[in-house]
Amino acid sequence: MKGVILAGGLGSRLYPLTKITNKHLLPVFDRPMIYYPIQAMVNAGITDIMIVTGGRKSGDFLSLLGNGADFGLKHLNYTYQQGEGGIAEALGLAEHWASGDSLCVILGDNIIQYNVAKARADFGKQGRGAKIILKEVHDPERFGVAEISGGKVLGIVEKPKAPKSNLAVIGIYMYDPRVFQIIKTLKPSERGELEITDVNNWFIQDGSMSYDVLPGWWTDAGTFESLHRASTLVKDGGANLMEVPPQA
Ligand code: G1P
Repeated sequence: MKGVILAGGLGSRLYPLTKITNKHLLPVFDRPMIYYPIQAMVNAGITDIMIVTGGRKSGDFLSLLGNGADFGLKHLNYTYQQGEGGIAEALGLAEHWASGDSLCVILGDNIIQYNVAKARADFGKQGRGAKIILKEVHDPERFGVAEISGGKVLGIVEKPKAPKSNLAVIGIYMYDPRVFQIIKTLKPSERGELEITDVNNWFIQDGSMSYDVLPGWWTDAGTFESLHRASTLVKDGGANLMEVPPQA
């Protein structure tokens, strides 16, 4: 399995912090935001990683990360997203590099307390299709929200006004190589982007989507409140911990 980390966009919800730099280079407690999803990949046993960047200061990723030595990696791959076409468009840029492998995709502003090693292993056994990871939240209208019944995902609605559950779809996804064919069929949403939620709903319709519920905390860091919350959560207990306690 290969890993794709999406770190493009203009970070407009964090303006003026993002007036001159990329959101994913901003600090979360004691390190740049992009360090967390890279460590999450490595902790799940995924070491063949591509970073899709874009927007302001995209060249700084190379200066900061180099070949990934801070994470014990020998090599990192990079590609560039022109404009703001959305998460699914950014993922589409990794097609030539993925060359038929299954993928784990992590949004560059998503931070987790523990790890997704078990989800990765379960997806390996599943063999095909996709897996999403869910987390109960108090503000589901900010996210993609999943409707669940009988151990199956019935559908996902992106930022619903009247959410059918409090289960947010977090920004860590696993896909078989069909994902690139699906991306090519997508139409831009109202916000002018190719939505990852449309990709996930395709796999749900195909009957090949599974889900896991994430142990421990999860946050994104794309707004002032969540960026602050992310720093506090990391400071108070650390992120990307390897051992998941049984009660978590
Ligand atoms: C994106 C996805 C959304 C998901 C969220 C997780 O939202 O579209 O489904 O729940 O990431 O961070 P965005 O940050 O682009 O608004």
